[in-house]
Amino acid sequence: MMRQIFKLFGIAIAISAIVSCQPGGANGKSSSSSKKSAAEKAYVAPGEYDEYYGFLSGGFSGQVYTYGFPSARLLKIIPVFSQDPQSGYGYSEETKPMLQTSYGFIPWDDLHHPDISQTNGELDGRWIFANGNNTPRIARIDLQDFETQEIIEIPNSAGNHNSAFVTENTEYVVAGTRFGVPIPQKDMPIKDYKGNFKASMTFLSVDEDSGEMDIAFQIRLPGYNYDLAHPGRDKSHGWMFFTTYNTEEAHTLLEVNASKFDKDFITAINWKKAEEYVKEGKGTIEKTRYAHNKYDSQTHTATTEWKDEVLVLDPTELPGIVYFVPSAKSPHGVDVDPTGEYIVSNGKLSANLVVHSFSKIKEAVDNEEFVDEAYGIPILDFDNTLAGIVEQPGIGPLHTEFDERGNAYSTFFISSEIVKWDVKTQEVLDRIDVYYSPGHLSIPGGNSRKPDGKYLLSMNKITKDRYLPVGPEMNQPGQLIDISGDKMEMILDFPMIGEPHYASMIHADKIKDKSRKIYRLASENDHPMVVKSGKDVDITRDGKNVHVKMGMIRSHFNPDNIEGIKVGDKVHFHLTNTEQDFDIPHGFAVMGANNSEILVVPGQTKTLTWEPKEPGIYPFYCTDFCSALHQEMQGYIRVSPEDSDIELSWSLNKNIDG
Ligand code: CUA
Repeated sequence: MMRQIFKLFGIAIAISAIVSCQPGGANGKSSSSSKKSAAEKAYVAPGEYDEYYGFLSGGFSGQVYTYGFPSARLLKIIPVFSQDPQSGYGYSEETKPMLQTSYGFIPWDDLHHPDISQTNGELDGRWIFANGNNTPRIARIDLQDFETQEIIEIPNSAGNHNSAFVTENTEYVVAGTRFGVPIPQKDMPIKDYKGNFKASMTFLSVDEDSGEMDIAFQIRLPGYNYDLAHPGRDKSHGWMFFTTYNTEEAHTLLEVNASKFDKDFITAINWKKAEEYVKEGKGTIEKTRYAHNKYDSQTHTATTEWKDEVLVLDPTELPGIVYFVPSAKSPHGVDVDPTGEYIVSNGKLSANLVVHSFSKIKEAVDNEEFVDEAYGIPILDFDNTLAGIVEQPGIGPLHTEFDERGNAYSTFFISSEIVKWDVKTQEVLDRIDVYYSPGHLSIPGGNSRKPDGKYLLSMNKITKDRYLPVGPEMNQPGQLIDISGDKMEMILDFPMIGEPHYASMIHADKIKDKSRKIYRLASENDHPMVVKSGKDVDITRDGKNVHVKMGMIRSHFNPDNIEGIKVGDKVHFHLTNTEQDFDIPHGFAVMGANNSEILVVPGQTKTLTWEPKEPGIYPFYCTDFCSALHQEMQGYIRVSPEDSDIELSWSLNKNIDG
């Protein structure tokens, strides 16, 4: 080995002992930076606002959770990849197309890494991009509406884990593959994986004004496993870095068979170079099939567009796009400091943190200093790209974020701590115990040129004794740490929802004033079934399909009595909330509907479809406590046998003539 840098657990246990010898790392110490108690630091008085928004991924819950910090108050659940009965997302007819894929309707995914759009390397608060890990998809959430507006499926990918990371002017959102698979997919023996499976790194362009995504190109790579990614910034803008493991190309018992080599790679992609090739018309168009789902805020309706081709760049034919940088064994996170010079590779099986220098990588590339190649892709020299080593900071490094003062903060899963170190000197400055086993951490702007290093959120994986027991599964703990002083200080411990992987945090000023209050009925509702006034209320029959255009306003539905529905009909309730007042939603639920309720916000139109199966009288009601007479906001539907000759009729405040 070139240096004594890749030490395993045996040696590292000594560090563990040192760590546990520091009593009260988390509790009982007051910060030198302030005389305020931890409780005062996290306290936001009733009626006051938090200073930051935090968007926490829900992991296997498939959603994004909006919290205010430092209070850790849950402000809103944003449904993304999972159906949400609270809002009706994925249940209403207008939003069902959002969850369409080439595998059919999928009401769930595993959402890992939300990333906020950037302008000039700073968070701009316009959109959040997030990945569906299981059935590869990228979503875009609009931060004016706090709603998912677009989901695009990623073809030729499997395990969309190293996603969704944005470049510093949101030129691209990057979606990397985790698994190597046959591309195109085919039936073949698993044992023939090595050399035959492939991987794709997908670059999605983002329209500057609308945010709309499109697959610009894919780069075809060897079928290693790829874990996480981060964009270069400032001096390294134009590059993207991916951690690469299982360079052994093992297909079974990876915990052993993918841990054999001394080192794995950081895959460095020069996307500006790739862009040049695309402009020159290089690359191959490959046939494939994927769904592109878009929600239109004007019609309040999502549509699915089917796409059937993708542009593929092969780096063995197009030199200068891809390089392999040997790095710490089995790396998890790869993180780029605010200057773009330092690239931290968090080798899970290494006792040290490896810091690469972008200038040195660039120099080695320019001078073609390659030590080898793999599948036609040049491999750089480890020593030639090294900025330094953080010697034995802890055990099991996973992720690193940065403040604006030249400090880095790394999570250590095995030794359950966060370690602060100096990016330039790689000297360890401070450490704090977290409970237990942190994965990602987040600092507002910590993945940008302009971090705002006041708080750090540690997202821990294991809870154990932190809260009152609630059966075999405990919610995972989030711990907020004040990092404004020399010493880190834990100020809050709160249970999170699902499994937060990454969280993207941003100063509230960048979002709060542009948040939508209502949809203006006059100008912001082009839904074909809208009810703008009582005149628009209508029920029409089209064979077995019955369309009900219904209005909702405090505290009644119009109409609230409906007759002439028959068994075998498909009833579409097109509901418009005609309120034009902020925060007055109405809900709608009908007995026996194989669906959820749907919530309609002021000025919006949404549709719930119901297929009644037996004759009878079916009540419906408003699900949201909208007014003092909310409980009176209800109605009846008469369902008659299939062969009945009862005419379709409806009313409000008068009898239907029978
Ligand atoms: Cu409308 Cu309750």
